[in-house]
Amino acid sequence: MSSPVKVISPATSIEEAAKMMLRYGHTGFPVLENGNLVGIISRRDIDKAKHHGLGHAPVKGYMSTDPTTIPSGLSIEEVQNLMIEKNVGRLPVIDNNQIVGIISRTNVIEALHGEKIKVGQVINKKSPIKISLLGRMKKLLPSQLLDLLRDIGEKADQLDYPAYMIGGIVRDLVIGRKNEDIDIVVKGDGISFAKLLATSIGGSVRVHEKFGTATWKHPSGLKIDITSARTEYYDYPAALPTVEMSSLREDLFRRDFTINAMALQINNNYFGKLIDFFHGYHDIKNKKIKILYNLSFVEDPTRILRAVRFEQRFGFKMDKQTIEIAHISVDKIASTSKPRIGHELSRLLMEEHPVESLVRLKELGVLNYLVGPNSCNEQTVTLLKKFKSFFDEVTLSTQIESCATKQNWICYLAILFYYKPKGLEEVRELALNNEQLQILNEITQLVSEDLNISTKFNLGDIHLLLRKYQTDAIICYSILKELPEELLVVIKAYLMTRVSLPRLINGTDLMALNIKAGPIYTEILLEIESSYLNKEILTKEDALQFVKDKYLTKKS
Ligand code: CTP
Repeated sequence: MSSPVKVISPATSIEEAAKMMLRYGHTGFPVLENGNLVGIISRRDIDKAKHHGLGHAPVKGYMSTDPTTIPSGLSIEEVQNLMIEKNVGRLPVIDNNQIVGIISRTNVIEALHGEKIKVGQVINKKSPIKISLLGRMKKLLPSQLLDLLRDIGEKADQLDYPAYMIGGIVRDLVIGRKNEDIDIVVKGDGISFAKLLATSIGGSVRVHEKFGTATWKHPSGLKIDITSARTEYYDYPAALPTVEMSSLREDLFRRDFTINAMALQINNNYFGKLIDFFHGYHDIKNKKIKILYNLSFVEDPTRILRAVRFEQRFGFKMDKQTIEIAHISVDKIASTSKPRIGHELSRLLMEEHPVESLVRLKELGVLNYLVGPNSCNEQTVTLLKKFKSFFDEVTLSTQIESCATKQNWICYLAILFYYKPKGLEEVRELALNNEQLQILNEITQLVSEDLNISTKFNLGDIHLLLRKYQTDAIICYSILKELPEELLVVIKAYLMTRVSLPRLINGTDLMALNIKAGPIYTEILLEIESSYLNKEILTKEDALQFVKDKYLTKKS
């Protein structure tokens, strides 16, 4: 059976009940009045009432009254017989006058494929899994971190707080990937817990009052976010649960995907115990990305981008229902704030498969709302791929690291939006910082200027034209302008060489030659760089001689 049960009161409107069904993915709710079961409202009842324009009416008038209930000790066969006999799709399970669960036709079908199980036991074959991840923790986490987690668990024991690691690190431990991003949730006051850690272990605490969370900075510099498992979740006033979900479960239920909604206990006696309410473990084994509730994407459309990120990163796939719901919810992308989308896009495009991710976003309809209809056509995909291989080739061979590679995601967007008039302007709204805006400025300048670069140019000439532009922008420009292959080869050679362009002489050298400081310095140094690229000046002596010949002789 499913437990705990979501219930509603007789006064709940048909509209609200419909919303809750969508939200929780249920097809029916028991209706409780003063703790007593007075009816059941099903999807069919709700659809009928809505069809008659009765969305505002209370469910009371449309529910089936006097529902058949069962005790928790019945066998699955008995439940099945009863469902057939009474022609009902779900049966509330009652023990001691309390509703303890609900069993649906789907539950029965699932159970019958497994062993004979008593109602009241968890029937899902996929779970529960009683697993300890201690072995994996030992293998994947550095020993100091493991010791620290044990310490934190012991401190939580002192306060009698159950404490868990949650989120990406638990997922990655199950997958077998390294991750040292620790998020902790305690059933208790997270802020005081963080303070206790700082006083007993050391370090400092930053409190985020507004969210009731704290970041503890360990003396080693490691930052750990600590939150409290919260209880206030029900935003529909009519949803008055008689059986409260545990606060940890609620906390996890609010998350994006089952694979991210697992917890790992760190209290001493349970150190390493996996808590997996939503079968995340099973979904990891089956390489599935699944949302936890139907409105997940509507509430946070950026999760569609996250789903694609995890699909590509782990080689997983969204399940059928998650894809369907993504399709239904995708129009919400249009009303999501640009910085939030920019943030998720940057994370997606900085991963290993940016082009495949964009193609997937198109498949899901995201690009229709983000860029426009007919975006990311075959020709654009070709350009995106060309950009990636050009960029990889230059950066891998020259090891231009972080700075360029961190910003280059914006170039994929520039290519994607370029076919639109003022497309680059739209990309600016998705940029997250000035460096990215700068790259966009450079791309805009480069594509609008007529540089007339030709294969006849030597590297020195190219340097004179392109020196002030960053690698990302130059590559993006070359691809957008579809420069011929032979020219790309020259530009590639230029980019690879300029990384290690030496400064043969500097301002001090020029001063020592009694050349008056001014813009002429830049000019001279640039000339020397250009001649170096053309292999005309190769040493400091050559450079000094060049300056003497050209500038001092002229002067005298
Ligand atoms: N989360 C969510 N909805 C979002 C963003 C995040 O539910 N829109 C939840 C997820 O459950 C996630 C956790 O918040 O596990 C932390 O999110 P994030 O910092 O983005 O990290 P990870 O999921 O760990 O992703 P990554 O591996 O890339 O760090």
